[in-house]
Amino acid sequence: MASITLNINNANHKIDVDPQMPLLWAIRDFVGLKGTKYGCGIAQCGACTVLLDGNPIRSCSFPVSGATGKKISTIEGLSENIDHPVQQAWIELQVPQCGYCQSGQILAATALLKKTPQPTDDQIDAAMQGNLCRCGTYPRIKSAIHRAAEILKTQKA
Ligand code: FES
Ligand code: FES
Repeated sequence: MASITLNINNANHKIDVDPQMPLLWAIRDFVGLKGTKYGCGIAQCGACTVLLDGNPIRSCSFPVSGATGKKISTIEGLSENIDHPVQQAWIELQVPQCGYCQSGQILAATALLKKTPQPTDDQIDAAMQGNLCRCGTYPRIKSAIHRAAEILKTQKA
């Protein structure tokens, strides 16, 4: 066991855990943020995606010790009023079906748009390929990423 401080959505959380414990357990069970989902548990589906210093990681397979001193962002931290451009686009295009994969999808899309503000279809496919959706919302996800890119462009103009 070790005392570990995690910075999640700009707030510090001190927890006493095995340093090898998956970060997802810390986020959900110790800090109580349940928006990040557990899917496969073996880094294959992307349901557990969070951002670590802005980069998407699979929190189910990432040791909690690796996140110390870094900024962790979960779906709860994206915006206060569900008005982040990616969230706006997701709502406008009614992307989710069951919703289970969508926090991971939204965070992966957010990371993509930060690095590539106007992505092509191929760039979207490459960035999103690790996030699976059993409901098959892929076409709407792609459209919503293009729409979020438009909203971001308008906001910057
Ligand atoms: S739950 Fe982490 S990748 Fe599937
Ligand atoms: S919306 Fe159901 S798994 Fe993606």
